[in-house]
Amino acid sequence: MRHLGYILGLVLIGCTNNTQSDYLAVSISEEKIIQEHPGKRLMETYCYACHTPETEMENRLAPPMIAVKRHYISEGTTKEEFQKEMLNWMNNPTEANSKMPGAIRRFGVMPNQKFSEDIINSISEYIFENEIEEPIWFEDHFQKRKGRGNH
Ligand code: HEC
Repeated sequence: MRHLGYILGLVLIGCTNNTQSDYLAVSISEEKIIQEHPGKRLMETYCYACHTPETEMENRLAPPMIAVKRHYISEGTTKEEFQKEMLNWMNNPTEANSKMPGAIRRFGVMPNQKFSEDIINSISEYIFENEIEEPIWFEDHFQKRKGRGNH
């Protein structure tokens, strides 16, 4: 946490010549960064290479993370259950373990990648507790394909 004070210090120094409203704007955006869940950054770094919501539907390498979330979490799923299933998948991504057979048909099985349990738990916690950004095409696509296991 010590470096957070350092960042704030820099912001304060950087703002001494600015008007008060500039200062407020900067300190509010810094606060947002400081409060961000660490799992968000980890997800964007390690997962968004393929699971990004930014790619056009036709050019995707994998389903967007919101699609994964919808397949893994239903009413009554607890955070602990979700984290366990994500760990299980990450440690053993095989067709037999998949909850998204349609995605495997379309994209092939996810490449096996090694991450520590802490990283996966942090990413899963972030996904469970927060709204995940949706691609603009997603809702329509999801409704059309619902029930066909076809993401
Ligand atoms: C190199 C590309 C790539 C990266 C990086 C990647 N994935 Fe995937 N992932 C895929 C593909 C392709 C699929 C769809 C096929 C499948 O389900 O195996 C997938 C599917 C999944 C699924 C659904 C599995 C199922 O079939 O039930 C989960 C969960 C998942 N990824 C989690 C993650 C997480 C968490 C990260 C980051 C730590 C990540 N992935 C990083 C390519 C990737």
